[in-house]
Amino acid sequence: MPRRSPSTPRTPVRVAVMVSGSGTNLQALLDAIEADPDFGGEVVVVGSDRAGAGGLDRARDAGIPTVVCALADAPDRPTWEAGLRAELEQHDPQVIVLAGFMKILTAVFLAGWPDRVINTHPSLLPAFRGARAVGEALAYGVKLTGCTVHLVDEQVDHGPIVAQEAVAVRDGDTETSLHGRIQRVEHRLLPAAVKLLCHGALQLDGRHVRAVLDPDTPDPDTPDPKEPS
Ligand code: GAR
Repeated sequence: MPRRSPSTPRTPVRVAVMVSGSGTNLQALLDAIEADPDFGGEVVVVGSDRAGAGGLDRARDAGIPTVVCALADAPDRPTWEAGLRAELEQHDPQVIVLAGFMKILTAVFLAGWPDRVINTHPSLLPAFRGARAVGEALAYGVKLTGCTVHLVDEQVDHGPIVAQEAVAVRDGDTETSLHGRIQRVEHRLLPAAVKLLCHGALQLDGRHVRAVLDPDTPDPDTPDPKEPS
């Protein structure tokens, strides 16, 4: 039985996106929002720890305000993180998307958006956490890797998993070729997960995340008590 889509929030949910690199995931999110009147979210600010991040150019091209907070410009990490949070708060975001943001955020930052910070990581977590996930998977010789979209908690690449998809490693793959195929999957998975978050459709039970698309729609896997078994 096809499920109805979740009801669209009346006012689009305000989304901040954090990038450190080229921002292809940011672009995929912007494109998905543009293409889907039912998306239920809008990107109100793009932040980065790197003034030269390509993602910032994508934001400017889309007319979205940007903020840059470089760790090197702050006296220490807590001050940097507090500054970043204050800059973002100017734009009143309700959801934070980490789209290739390569700095670790602590519980102090995350407390501002409980269960509302989402990250995409280029491996099948819990395998290959950290900043070198694709290279480490290749070096290990795995035949399957992939990407994981997860809610962010205070441990690195650890929070409850929203979506995962496998990508096969091919003979002769380089880090670039493999990462490119993983990113193509991320470009689909991350916007889909952000849409669910914007619709308030992610139900958390410990580490387990369930997408509740419409509470009135029967789950096709649950037997109807009125039907003979
Ligand atoms: C993405 O593949 C993302 O999963 C990865 O950085 C890439 C950013 O690409 N993130 C991490 O490795 C975080 N640990 P993009 O800038 O083109 O979106």
